Amino acid sequence: MIQRPSETGFLPPGSPQIRADVLALIHGERDFIANAANVAAVLYHALPDVNWAGFYLLKGEDLVLGPFQGQPACVRIGPGRGVCGAALQQRRTLVVPDVHQFPGHIACDAASRSEIVVPLLRDGQPLGVLDLDSPQLNRFQYADQVALEEIVDLLLANSDLEPVGWRS
Ligand code: SME
Repeated sequence: MIQRPSETGFLPPGSPQIRADVLALIHGERDFIANAANVAAVLYHALPDVNWAGFYLLKGEDLVLGPFQGQPACVRIGPGRGVCGAALQQRRTLVVPDVHQFPGHIACDAASRSEIVVPLLRDGQPLGVLDLDSPQLNRFQYADQVALEEIVDLLLANSDLEPVGWRS
């Protein structure tokens, strides 16, 4: 079902195929972990130049590793730490063209050079983040941000995820 970049050329996350894959996979299922795991798999396998795609979920004060695809990653990220913590604290998507220029970036995989983090927010309440890494500098553009925010909205609208703790 999932088209690979080698078959399609560049496949942006806003492509109808990726949106269709996500919708088909989460249809009829409201378990957040199951749906998030499939979203991570779709993004990781369909997008070129992505070496990590996954979720961190807010538990108490920390972001804790959730469903992902890629190399094993840091398990727990403290409040405001790294790109993930900053995106959640600021409640906005952060696009980092060069992770070495981001103060406090947490390097889970030394190969990662650029990153995008989309916060998971429900009624303004932080629940976690979607994080994508790339071994390529400046991999993520505004179009990626718009498309990934749409995928996060689809996931949250179609899944049950109760807050386990949040900070103002
Ligand atoms: N680089 C992230 C940490 C998570 S990994 O990239 C999977 C950060 O700075 O928050």
